[in-house]
Amino acid sequence: MAEDDRSTTTDQGATIEDFLAEERTFPPPKSIVSGALVTDRSLYDEADADFEAFWADRARELTWFEPFESVLEWDLPFARWFADGRLNVSYNCLDRHVEAGLGDRVAYHFEGEPGDSRTITYAELLEEVSRCANALRSLGVERGDRVAIYMPMVPELPVAMLACARIGAAHSVVFGGFSADALRDRIEDAEAKVLITADGGWRRGQPVALKANADAALSNGARSIEHVVVVRRLGDAAPDTSMAEGRDLWWHEIVPSQPVHCPPEAMGAEDLLYLLYTSGTTAKPKGIMHTTGGYLTQVAFTHRYVFDLHPETDVYWCAADIGWVTGHSYIVYGPLANAATSVMYEGTPDHPGRDRWWSIIERYKVTILYCAPTAIRTFMKWGTEHLEAHDLSSLRVLGSVGEPINPEAWVWYWQHVGGERCPVVDTWWQTETGAIMISPLPGLTTLKPGSATFPLPGVAAEVVDDAGTRVERGGGYLTLSRPWPAMLRGIYGDPARYRETYWSRFPGRYFAGDGAKVDQDGYLWLLGRVDDVMNVSGHRVSTTEVESALVDHPTVAEAAVVGATDATTGQAVIAFVTLKAGVEVDEEHGEALRRHVASKIGPIARPRTIIFTEDLPKTRSGKIMRRLLRDVAEGRDLGDTTTLADQSVVEELRTRATSQPAEE
Ligand code: PRX
Repeated sequence: MAEDDRSTTTDQGATIEDFLAEERTFPPPKSIVSGALVTDRSLYDEADADFEAFWADRARELTWFEPFESVLEWDLPFARWFADGRLNVSYNCLDRHVEAGLGDRVAYHFEGEPGDSRTITYAELLEEVSRCANALRSLGVERGDRVAIYMPMVPELPVAMLACARIGAAHSVVFGGFSADALRDRIEDAEAKVLITADGGWRRGQPVALKANADAALSNGARSIEHVVVVRRLGDAAPDTSMAEGRDLWWHEIVPSQPVHCPPEAMGAEDLLYLLYTSGTTAKPKGIMHTTGGYLTQVAFTHRYVFDLHPETDVYWCAADIGWVTGHSYIVYGPLANAATSVMYEGTPDHPGRDRWWSIIERYKVTILYCAPTAIRTFMKWGTEHLEAHDLSSLRVLGSVGEPINPEAWVWYWQHVGGERCPVVDTWWQTETGAIMISPLPGLTTLKPGSATFPLPGVAAEVVDDAGTRVERGGGYLTLSRPWPAMLRGIYGDPARYRETYWSRFPGRYFAGDGAKVDQDGYLWLLGRVDDVMNVSGHRVSTTEVESALVDHPTVAEAAVVGATDATTGQAVIAFVTLKAGVEVDEEHGEALRRHVASKIGPIARPRTIIFTEDLPKTRSGKIMRRLLRDVAEGRDLGDTTTLADQSVVEELRTRATSQPAEE
C-alpha cells in the first residue's frame, strides 16, 4: 500500500468509522424455525469450548479410508488439519451416497441456456466421473499432477473436477470468461499436464468459442500441456473447431468408452485438491492452494447449516459460475458432499427474457437460492413484473455472497424474491478462506439487512484497529485469529508471498483485506476492500493487473486504476491513462484500450471509464496518489492535496472526470 493510501476509506466509498443507520431487524420466520437444523446456540457453545474438537467431530461425518488422530498442526502461518487421515473427495461426494441407497437421487438438474436440459442422478454422476477419471489416467495423468480446466457451465465441468479428485490430480479451473493470456499464465504457473475445455458455450443467445482461446493460450507457451480434451457443447454452432493431431481429443471419443469403475485414490488429508487463481494487490494472480480433508469438512458443514439444507426435500441453486470459488465450494463440493439436489444453469439471466431465473425456480421448485448482490441489483433495475409472472413459493432460504449487500437490495430480495418468508443469509468469505466464515443461521439468527451478522461456529473473526488491537465496537480491519479447516494452505510455489500477503500486517492474524465494523449488538458489517483490489460484480479484480494490461498497450505511457461505486456492479473499473507523446486522444482510442484490457485479462476487467490525462497526481517522491484518484472517480471532496507535486493536475482531472458519461 502506498504511504498516501493509509486512510481508512474503503473502496466502497464509506469510511470505516461510518455507521449505517440500519435499524430494521428480522427474526427467523416461524415456518423456518419449526423444521430448522439449528434453533439454539449449542453448536456455538460446542465450538467455543474446544474448536479443534468441534471441527474434528465435523470431519468425522465424512467417510475416511483411514481415520485421523492428529486434528491440527499449527506452525503459523502453515496449518495441517487431520493430516494423518486418508480419504477421497469424489468418494465422499458420490460413492458413499450411492452405497447408502441414494443412487437415484438427482445430483444436478442442468439447464443449458438454449433450453436443453439434463437430469443427472448420483449413480449416473459416479459413472461419468469414473469414466472421465479413467480417461485422464489413459492420457498419463497421475496422482500429484495438475489438470487445467477451462469450460462453460456444463455438467462435464463438475465431472472433470471430481475425476481429478478421484485419481489424486489437482485441478486448476480457469473461469471461461478469462482471456487466452490469463489461461496461459495459469497453466504455466501450475505446470498443468492436461487441459480440459469445450468447443464453447452459450451466452445471451450467442455461441461463445472457447477452444480458439485455448489454442491461442497454447500457441505461445503453456508447454507443459500434453493433451487437450474437448467437450462438444456447441456442435455445429461452433465456428470451426480445429483439433491438433496427437494433442487434442474429443471428450465424447475418449470418455464414454472407458471402464465404468475407477477405484478412488486414498489421499492424504493435506494433499492438494485444487488451485484457484485470484487477484491480489500485484499484477501476478496467486494460485490459492486448497487441500483435501479440512476443505471438504468445512464446505460440507457450512453448506448444510448456513442454508439449513434438508437434502431429501430441498432443491438448491447456486447461480455462480464454477470458475469462481463460490462454484467450487457451493455448486460442486459442498452440495455433493451433502447429497443435495442442485440446479445448474449455463447462461445469463436475461435470455431469452428477463424472467429466466424465475422460470427456472418455478419449474424445478427451487427451495434455496444463493447469488450475488450484483444480480439482485440488476433485477431491481429490471422491475418486479418479471418475478410476479412466476410462482416462487417453493423458496425458503435466500443467500448472498461476493460483495457487501446494501440494505435496499437485501430488503428487495427478502420482499420480492422471498415473499417476506425466507431468511436472507449474507455470507462473507473469500477464495482464500475456502468456505463461508461469517453468516447467519436461518433458524436462529435475527437478521439485520446488510450485515453478515456473526462468525460461524468454529470461526474466530475479529475486527482490529491500525495497531492490531481488537475493536469491540466500531470500525477497523477484518482479521481471522485462528486457523480454520478450509483455509488456504499457501500460494502455489511461493510460501514467502503467502506469509507476506496475509500474515504480516497484523502479527498472528490472517488479514483478509476487508474493512468491517462491529455494531452495538456485536453484528459484523462488511465495508469493502481496503487494499488495491476492486470488487466488480462480486469478482476480484486487481488494480495493478489492469494497470499492467493498459501499459502493455503500445500507446500508453502510464496508467492508474481505481474502483468507483457503481449502482449495479458494486464497483466499476476507472482508468486514468497518460498516452505516449504524439498519440491522439479520441473516443475510439478509449475503446481500443478497453478491448485490450479485455483481451489481456477478460471482459470482467474492462474499464467502464477511461480518463485521459497528461499527468497523474503524484507525491513529491513520485508515488501516484491513488486516494486522490479514488476521490476524483467518486466525485468526492478531495481533502488535503498539499503533498502533491503539481496541484493543477487534480483540477484538470476533476474537470475531465465530470465530463465523462457515468455509464457506457
Ligand atoms: O471483499 C470481500 C468480498 O469478496 C472478497 C472475496 O472475493 P473472492 O475471493 O472472489 O470470493 C468471493 C466469493 C466468496 C472479500 O474479501 N465479499 C465476499 N463476500 C462478501 C464480501 N463482502 C461483503 N459481504 C459479503 N458477504
